[in-house]
This record gives sequence, C-alpha cells and structure tokens, in this order.
Amino acid sequence: MTRSHSRADNLIQQFDAVLRTLVPHAASPSRPTPATEAVHDEPMSEEERRHAAGLMRINHTGEVCAQALYQGQGMTAKLPEVRGQMEQAAQEEIDHLAWCDARLQELHDRPSLLNPLFYAASFGLGATAGAVGDQVSLGFVAATEEQVGQHLEEHLVKLPPADHRSRAVLRQMAIDEAHHAQLALEAGGSRFPAPVKLGMKLMSKLMTKSVYRV
Ligand SMILES: [Fe+2]
Ligand SMILES: [Fe+2]
Repeated sequence: MTRSHSRADNLIQQFDAVLRTLVPHAASPSRPTPATEAVHDEPMSEEERRHAAGLMRINHTGEVCAQALYQGQGMTAKLPEVRGQMEQAAQEEIDHLAWCDARLQELHDRPSLLNPLFYAASFGLGATAGAVGDQVSLGFVAATEEQVGQHLEEHLVKLPPADHRSRAVLRQMAIDEAHHAQLALEAGGSRFPAPVKLGMKLMSKLMTKSVYRV
C-alpha cells in the first residue's frame, strides 16, 4: 500500500516537474535574475533583437535539457552521498530556466517549440546514465556542464554589444555551471573519453542550429 502510494506520489512529482519545465513562466527561481533594474540595454535594431532572442532561446532550451537530465538521473541514480548537492545544482538550473524565460519575454520572443522533444531525449539520456552507475551519471553531468560553459562563453561574445541584460544572466550562469561541473567531478564522476564528448557536441550542434530559429 505504502509502496503504491509512494509510486503514485513519485509520478505526480515527475509530472509536476515536467510541467514546471515546459510551461512558459511556470518555473519559480530561488534567486532574483542577475539582470537587475540597474542593468540597462542600449537601443537595439530589430535584427539585433532577433539575434539576441535566438541565442537566449538556445540557452533556455539548454536549461530545459538540464532539468530533464537531472530529473531522469534522479529516477535511476543512487547517488547516496551527493544527492543533496545534486538537488542544490538542480535548483540553480531552475533559476537559469526562469531567468532565460524572463529575458526572452523582455526581448518580445518565445521559447523553442522543440522543447518537449529535447526534454524527452535528455530525460532518456539522464535516466540511462543513472542506471549504468553513479560514476557515469556524474561524468555525464560534468561533461554536459563543461559543454554548456563553452556555449555560454561563445554567446557572451556573439550577443549584440547593446544587450547588457542577457549578458548579466549568462555571466552568472557560467559561474554556476563551472561549479556544477566541478561538484560532479569531485563526487567521483568519470571523465568521458573524447569520442563520447564528440557525440555530445554533435547533438548540441543539432540543438543550437534548430532552436535558434524554431
Ligand atoms: Fe544551467
Ligand atoms: Fe548546470
């Protein structure tokens, strides 16, 4: 009886997490956005606005994937010693998701229509890595976070010079992601071999190319 109850609870919790990730403006951040009232944009052309929105849409989808990865992993991984830390990291990812969402709104644009697809794929990958073992699962987090960090650095350069508010968001995200990668490695995550990282890079290329527009 208790078992079926906890299973039902789990399912409801999972469903709630899916909704909070995929429904726009549903995620509630624990920290205020780094794009505070003190940070102002300079005027942007329509082309610059569209470019900034495309980049922020990619970052938003990246955060959707991070949610799915952590949630998938949470279903299957044991992670007894580091569960608390991973939950803290997952909460910070919710902040990122909400900040990117808010910034997209400021730019009068919308999240990617492909988010459910990328959510499902990332959830599957997270759950698979978690089932293989904690070392692999943590290694997957570390490799993903490193890749996200690279993206963020690129986007900080590519954003229109006038877009200070997106930059403020991405800067704080870069600090957090580096910390997440370090946590996962310190917790015993295995360093992934180059071919696996290359595969992940190709996946993320596919994501960035499609989500920039869609
Ligand atoms: Fe993040
Ligand atoms: Fe992260």
